[in-house]
Amino acid sequence: MSDSNLTMTFYLTGLRNQHAVETQAIGTVKNQLSRMEPYPELHTQMQGEMQRSTEQAARLDTLLAKHGTSASVAKEAMTGTVATVAGFAHSLSSDEVLKNVLAAVGFKAYEIGSYKVLVTLAESVGAADDVAMLELSMKEEQEMGDWLGSHLPSIVHAYLARQTA
Ligand SMILES: [Fe+2]
Repeated sequence: MSDSNLTMTFYLTGLRNQHAVETQAIGTVKNQLSRMEPYPELHTQMQGEMQRSTEQAARLDTLLAKHGTSASVAKEAMTGTVATVAGFAHSLSSDEVLKNVLAAVGFKAYEIGSYKVLVTLAESVGAADDVAMLELSMKEEQEMGDWLGSHLPSIVHAYLARQTA
């Protein structure tokens, strides 16, 4: 395989992996949403997150189709590693919301990095047209990461208020 073919293979694999990550994110947030209802701001933000993840997955579908391939749905269903990366707590412990928010902070950092890698690979394969779409998703991940980071104190306060109520 020539170097350029190899780079293209890395790039397409990266697009598929990120598609699996977005799919996992949609499922995880869907599972958690009802338990975030006592935290209205967080709940609204996570609803938006589900919507954005759906759009981000669709963008990856568009890019994969453009390069003559597609996401592997069968493979995604078996990708346990993605769940590990997501790192969300599924327990019903009393501090579950805090654990999930911390996991979401880590997850956003992973996704920002992942899109940065994809932008670099897109540039390396000469797919300059792909960059804007990937950067749009990266910007959304960054905004969500910033929102979570800046709202950690208010989420902790809301959590404490519920424990002592
Ligand atoms: Fe995402």
